[in-house]
Amino acid sequence: MANKNIVILGGDGIGPEVTAWGNDVLKNIAEIFGHTFSFQNELIGHAAIEATGEPLPDKTLDACKQADAILLGAVGHPMYDNDPSKQVRPEQGLLKIRKSLGLYTNIRPIKIFDELAHASSIKSEILKGSDILFFRELTGGIYFGEPRERQENGEVAIDTMRYSKMEVRRIAEKAFEAAMTRRKIVHSVDKANVLESSRLWRETVNEVAKNYPEVELVHMFIDNASMQLIKDPKQFDVVVTGNMFGDILTDEASQIAGSLGMLASASVGDSVGIFEPIHGSAPDIAGQNIANPLATILSTALLLDISFGMQEESKAVIDAVDAVLKEGYRTTDIAEQQTPKDKILSTDEMGKRVVAHIKQAV
Ligand code: NAD
Ligand code: IPM
Ligand code: MN
Repeated sequence: MANKNIVILGGDGIGPEVTAWGNDVLKNIAEIFGHTFSFQNELIGHAAIEATGEPLPDKTLDACKQADAILLGAVGHPMYDNDPSKQVRPEQGLLKIRKSLGLYTNIRPIKIFDELAHASSIKSEILKGSDILFFRELTGGIYFGEPRERQENGEVAIDTMRYSKMEVRRIAEKAFEAAMTRRKIVHSVDKANVLESSRLWRETVNEVAKNYPEVELVHMFIDNASMQLIKDPKQFDVVVTGNMFGDILTDEASQIAGSLGMLASASVGDSVGIFEPIHGSAPDIAGQNIANPLATILSTALLLDISFGMQEESKAVIDAVDAVLKEGYRTTDIAEQQTPKDKILSTDEMGKRVVAHIKQAV
């Protein structure tokens, strides 16, 4: 029976609406399995800027460093998206916490619940059976390379795509290790026909591959990969790629799972992990109680498994999500034309049903 301290960073927009349910799921798991989880809410993003002037206040970072795991919703607000000149921005808080905690590995499983095969805009026969595990490098690449600045009186802007062999090696090793427990195929996605940083990426992945002779390594250019993902997702097992390519490819891959509202992620590395849905603060639906909380709930399953080694508890969460979907319940984003109106749930109704299943199953 474990004692764990979990920091909840709701953030902005639909972030707090969905982490409320992640929190409730964890609370119920603790009660059922006899653990003691304590929860501490802290500020990040626009909410933190409003309260303190900073997107990641020291208090938040200190609490996260002391925590056993972190559950994060999303950051971002149209106020900044509509005004590129703003210097202090919500997303800086997220990038800073990932960097400060050394979370260089972002694991994004593309898990398809069979019941949702028809919710996607891709044909169900193409999707069924797809199972992809993305390893997105999270603390390097163009997101962090220097210089990043305006030059020539603001007329020119520079970002730098930078990778070191060390950064590529450590994420590639994680991907190959995972592939050994799966179908033993790694797709490494880059743009080595154009970018020097991608040539270093490819060279380093080849070096790592030598230690995993059983794993088939396929190099793919990002432009082709984004097409292949939709054409034939079943060809992929583990995908490893850089920060920005991984960001873009996984939003695309969410259409395999049916919706951005279904994809969970784990950001892990040197210390305490952050568990976060891959979606953003969704200002277009914020405050309406219609966001899909399942990506966040599934992120708690990753948290229980990866950070706490609680496989049974993690499975209880996934099984509850599966059961609710099998009963035909949907949030708007995963509803189909033929979904009966009384099966279309609000955020809170969906959260409640998942929690009820967790309680009932154990
Ligand atoms: P977004 O992911 O917030 O939304 C994209 C689309 O998906 C929207 O139509 C939205 O309504 C829908 N969607 C997203 N999550 C959903 C859910 N759980 N249920 C139902 N529908 C959902 O991306 P965006 O609109 O490009 O960005 C909005 C803001 O979020 C920006 O400020 C951006 O910087 C930020 N953002 C933050 C994160 C993060 O915190 N990890 C990730 C992506 C975007
Ligand atoms: C994500 C988001 C973030 C990213 C932004 C908000 C900084 O899109 O978590 O996928 O690009 O990493
Ligand atoms: Mn993203």
